[in-house]
Amino acid sequence: MSCIVSIILQVHILHLVCGLTQLPEEVYKTLFKQRRAEQLAAVKNLKKLSNIEKQHSMINLMAEKVFSIFEDCRAHIESSGYIPGISEFPNDEKVRDCLSNILENTALFSEVVLRFPDVADVILKQNNKWDIQLQWTIAFCYQVEHLLDKSTMKLLNLVNQELNYTERDPNYLNPYRKTVSLKTTNNTNTSVKDKKKTKKVSKKGPKLANFGEL
Ligand SMILES: *[C@@H]1O[C@H](CO)[C@@H](O)[C@H](O)[C@H]1NC(C)=O
Ligand SMILES: *[C@@H]1O[C@H](CO)[C@@H](O)[C@H](O)[C@H]1NC(C)=O
Ligand SMILES: *[C@@H]1O[C@H](CO)[C@@H](O)[C@H](O)[C@H]1NC(C)=O
Repeated sequence: MSCIVSIILQVHILHLVCGLTQLPEEVYKTLFKQRRAEQLAAVKNLKKLSNIEKQHSMINLMAEKVFSIFEDCRAHIESSGYIPGISEFPNDEKVRDCLSNILENTALFSEVVLRFPDVADVILKQNNKWDIQLQWTIAFCYQVEHLLDKSTMKLLNLVNQELNYTERDPNYLNPYRKTVSLKTTNNTNTSVKDKKKTKKVSKKGPKLANFGEL
């Protein structure tokens, strides 16, 4: 958790260092990719925790942090006159920080939603305000798509479907959802085996969605 919090709180020193020779927007795009790689590593570490209760409470803690940032930054952005998709990359440091906080934490929480769908379901159902906030931040990210990389846009597209913010593609399947293999097979013999397989393979990700070998 300390790892995740430190990512959230980390100050963007590189903005200052690189900003002198490169356009701030280009610097930001590079930084964003870096940040995403760090996030992914942190979320994967969370997945490795064997204590499920601890896992849940860490995700809860992270959600509280992330959504409080969203609330503050949304208010700040909206009052700053920054219009996503129309305004230039902001010069104002506070606006810029808020912009990156929204983008980075939306990506972070999206990663969590996909990888811990059952936990995220519970959290978002209990906190309707957060659910609405997340819809807003995802829509915001789409409006500044030019700042984000392809893999992040793909992630947001999946989360939109996972949370039913948009209609699901008929082939949509979240490979991280534990119940998937049990639902799609009605063979008691193999379901036990499949369950084990799912756990092992799911770390690798979306390939599982094919169920080719079943
Ligand atoms: C989204 O819709 C599907 C299909 O109706 C449903 O099974 C699932 O529980 C919904 N997910 C959420 C997070 O509401
Ligand atoms: C599962 O299979 C059993 C027998 O093989 C059958 O009786 C049962 O109705 C099936 N259940 C579903 C949900 O298809
Ligand atoms: C389980 O497997 C055995 C042997 O492979 C088979 O005889 C039996 O019919 C299977 N049971 C079900 C519910 O598929």
